[in-house]
Amino acid sequence: MERLVDSLFALMTLEEKLGQLTQLSGQSTEAGPRVRAEDQARIRAGQVGSFLGIYGAAYTRRLQRIAVDESRLKIPLLFAYDVIHGFRTIFPVPLAEASSWDPAAVERSARVAAVEATAHGLHWTFAPMVDIARDPRWGRIVEGAGEDPYLGAVMAAARVRGFQGTDLAAANTMLATAKHFAAYGGAEGGRDYNTVDLSPQTLHQTYLRPFQAAAAAGVGAVMPAFNEVNGVPMHANADLINGVLRGRWGWDGVVVSDWNGIQELIPHGVAASRPEAGALGLHAGVDVDMVSAIYLQDLPAVVRGGRVLQREVDEAVRRVLRAKYRLGLFQDPYGYSDVARERAATLTVDHQAAAREVGRKSIVLLKNQGNLLPLAKSLKTIAVIGALAVDAGSALGSWSADGRKEEAVSLLDGIRHAMPSAEVLYAKGADVEGSDTSGFAEAVRVARRAEAVILVLGERRGMSGEASNRASIDLPGMQEELAKRVQSSGKPVVVALMNGRPLAIPWLDEHIPAILETWYLGTPMGSAVADVVFGDYSPGGKLPVTFPRATGQIPLYYSHKNTGRPPSEEGNTSKYLDVPWTPLYSFGHGLSYTTFGYGAPRLSRRSMRATDTLVVQVDVTNTGQRPGEEVVQLYLRDDVGSVTRPVKELRGFRRITLQPGQRAAVTFTLRSEDLAFYDRRMNRVVEPGSFTVFVGGGSADVKEARFEVTTGTQLGDALLR
Ligand code: GLC
Repeated sequence: MERLVDSLFALMTLEEKLGQLTQLSGQSTEAGPRVRAEDQARIRAGQVGSFLGIYGAAYTRRLQRIAVDESRLKIPLLFAYDVIHGFRTIFPVPLAEASSWDPAAVERSARVAAVEATAHGLHWTFAPMVDIARDPRWGRIVEGAGEDPYLGAVMAAARVRGFQGTDLAAANTMLATAKHFAAYGGAEGGRDYNTVDLSPQTLHQTYLRPFQAAAAAGVGAVMPAFNEVNGVPMHANADLINGVLRGRWGWDGVVVSDWNGIQELIPHGVAASRPEAGALGLHAGVDVDMVSAIYLQDLPAVVRGGRVLQREVDEAVRRVLRAKYRLGLFQDPYGYSDVARERAATLTVDHQAAAREVGRKSIVLLKNQGNLLPLAKSLKTIAVIGALAVDAGSALGSWSADGRKEEAVSLLDGIRHAMPSAEVLYAKGADVEGSDTSGFAEAVRVARRAEAVILVLGERRGMSGEASNRASIDLPGMQEELAKRVQSSGKPVVVALMNGRPLAIPWLDEHIPAILETWYLGTPMGSAVADVVFGDYSPGGKLPVTFPRATGQIPLYYSHKNTGRPPSEEGNTSKYLDVPWTPLYSFGHGLSYTTFGYGAPRLSRRSMRATDTLVVQVDVTNTGQRPGEEVVQLYLRDDVGSVTRPVKELRGFRRITLQPGQRAAVTFTLRSEDLAFYDRRMNRVVEPGSFTVFVGGGSADVKEARFEVTTGTQLGDALLR
């Protein structure tokens, strides 16, 4: 590979090198995504190295031929796209998949996405999005794995493995991109792209942790975030990109700007011109300039003027050429552009079954008073109410690539298909937004005619995702009023939530007997929900994010500090006058159609040195009448530290299946990595002292045990060496 790169280098002009660092976007046309004529000319001139949003086996083959036959150096193009949770078969949105707490299922989901995307000529996806989000006002919380760095790290690595497989040169594996580096979810006010200002400890302990896991899993690319961190916009952040990502962690992949991120250094106020912005970006370690064309147009003069070292250009170009080589493009530029494979590999029965499987696992049973769920299949008349019940587009969620709503199964479709001999009535009741209540009467009439009601409430998919933030996380529109009217019908009501973020639903929690969190489950959504509603599948999902009672509690997350005055009923403590300080639903919460009993955790030792390992074992029993799946969770607290430590942090989990009466002994191993944190001087240390272990089926539902760490130690930072 190095010989080939060196041989190309000897021939490349500065413009051709900067061409490799240039990524252009396609445009949507009737015939599908297409490259503008002037950009096809750029391919011939060696002025573009990759395209975003261009796919199709036949079309990518045509463009590749221009690059390989008609340009001077014949360097193949890379085709990239946002394949976030499926390409044509759409899988649950990442926040939903995180609710499965099933890394194997999530890896399989990314694997299927890669098979379909590569069959359409794509080499590179801008996923997984691994941003930690503690603020549900932020629309992009839907794209990640929630609030916890440990769960986020496990999911990040699983998705990288799924997309990249074990051999990047295989035609059904693709380059993955960990994004958005870094702390994009820490935006003030939950407003996308807004300022991020946080301590180095929080930055490294919480927000960088999933990126380290992605890097350790071999992710081929990283995308910087639009935001600044502590005064330095990420697209100019040499300390974090070249310093930490490349330097301390030893990662050597391709850094691609997010959209116009290089040019946005000007409105950020750290660059006065395009040339300055380009120089800052390249110097920080951003290799590929997506769509601003600053590297192509403005950097030649900057390099010739000595403001950016030729060496920095060369290092960036090498990384791009190595990525192309690792993908096998120099050996076979057309390997991914195979029309036969494109037809055979798309929307297959297996792919849809895989999406339905992970969809069922992603559903969280929030409440089930009186075991109203599962509904009996013997029911003769069921009412389905709510605009979202027929919104197949929303079922796909945001960033749904080439997914098509005509191919998606709405909740109403899923219910009707599961209950062919029942009469399934439908009424919209109310729109998702707006103040129109004219549909209430019809909804109540329909409810009165039914034996049970499935009320679908939540958000349209466009109300989360990029630049889709909400200042309130209440149910939008008149949906809560609709719920009150439907509830007054006296019929048993099940609420199915379709939403891209935690919602503040205290009224529903108090008055509705059964509530399912179904998020957006992708193409087979209605089928997956029906599987759970009628008991063909017993839900086992757990929340990857805290559900506040009210917007005003944000930020509210389980791994909080204890403070000097932890909230309590008496006295002046850290609480509100108007709302209980506790969450509505805690991180890790989720019920089943059966029940589980936990024994006290058993420890392999009562004390350990920092470099020892400690085994925690817990007996879990299915104490109910039905089979069920449980996510057994292990949390840890460093009881006393040189800095304050969270009251608990996730350090292990396992999703298990138990038959009625069956008991399993679940084992976790703790090692120094799990005990470590960044101290005041940003050293990664384990300190001696007392630790508490918590085990249970949710962060607020645990049994504990203590142990002592007898010696301290300091750990290196890198996960890669
Ligand atoms: C968008 C998103 C990023 C995406 C990129 C290309 O602005 O921030 O996640 O990969 O542009 O579509």
